[in-house]
Amino acid sequence: MKIPFLSFSGMHPDIKAKMYEAFSQFYDSNWYVLGEFTKSFEKAYAEWNQVNYCVGVSNGLDALVLSLKALGIEEGDEVLVPSNTYIATWLAVSYVGAKPVAVEPDIRTYNICPRMAEEAITPKTKAIMAVHLYGQACEMDAIKDLSKKHDLLIVEDNAQAHGATFLGKKTGSWGHINGTSFYPGKNLGALGEAGAVTTDNATLVHKVQVLRNYGSQKKYYNEVPGYNMRIDELQAALLGVKLPYLENWTMERQQIASLYCQQLQGIGDLILPYTLENASHVYHLYVVRTKQRDKLQEYLTQQGIGTMIHYPIPPHLQQAYASLGFQKGDFPIAEELAETSLSLPLWPGMTEGQVKEVTAAIVAFFNERG
Ligand SMILES: Cc1ncc(COP(=O)(O)O)c(C=O)c1O
Repeated sequence: MKIPFLSFSGMHPDIKAKMYEAFSQFYDSNWYVLGEFTKSFEKAYAEWNQVNYCVGVSNGLDALVLSLKALGIEEGDEVLVPSNTYIATWLAVSYVGAKPVAVEPDIRTYNICPRMAEEAITPKTKAIMAVHLYGQACEMDAIKDLSKKHDLLIVEDNAQAHGATFLGKKTGSWGHINGTSFYPGKNLGALGEAGAVTTDNATLVHKVQVLRNYGSQKKYYNEVPGYNMRIDELQAALLGVKLPYLENWTMERQQIASLYCQQLQGIGDLILPYTLENASHVYHLYVVRTKQRDKLQEYLTQQGIGTMIHYPIPPHLQQAYASLGFQKGDFPIAEELAETSLSLPLWPGMTEGQVKEVTAAIVAFFNERG
């Protein structure tokens, strides 16, 4: 691809020496699981995310599973989830034995609609998963109000939104407990699998620390049937190197997004990202919508421009959830988003020239089709 969908070329070369140094220290440490690098990254990430505690875990899905487990969500409980999220959000609910109850998003922001969420509450509803999709913060004030009114627990899925804010407060710091992912392509990405749980609650953090480590605090003494969901020590070391750069990388993402917004305004039937007044967007993904999505994607591929679809099939129509008995038409907003959304290339280090090339190709596509 002339312009790939994602590239680390603007991030990794600058930090290579520091990453190698971290590896070398890790190598020489003789301590490869839950060591000093994990402790130090957890402390740094908690501070950065404006929370009291962070627990490094194996990946984003496990972070959500551990969060729900720590809250005591179990079989018979219902958890509100967006109808248009990545399937991991739903799977986490299923894994603890609870039922994911889909709520349609706000068609402007693509984030769970608090008004529609209220309509989906039943006596069994225990929690709501606030997924900050594509990097934009959910309406956390309305979700907080809902939580107080209906006694709901809030779990933020912050996998795509490191550093986004609502009313100036960071995502991953609003919920009772929150999960995030450091999958390599995320805004803060490991060089392998990693994730974290964040919370201000000392009881919950203790539960997660124990659950991620075989249910044990003291070696070979097991309090509960836990899991092996520990963060990899090497990934913690590498994430510790990357974290101080995240603020700048985020600014670059926002600048690129703003160039796209300027250059794509009024082109064809394109619908551009919409940010609520009190929310910030860290542009994990720059997603546009058009009725001609598949043709546009094909055209851009021919021009050597990489794009992706997030996500082509909503969770309720995935084979994995066939047992829930959903039909096409059950969640029309999620289905429309799946049919019309296209993610454009965006990564820190992408040049203004590259953005122009992408937008010129999009303009040419719509010009050719009138
Ligand atoms: C919204 C959302 N939730 C959860 C996850 C799961 O993260 P991981 O792939 O690290 O398990 C992802 C990442 O793909 C995601 O995008």
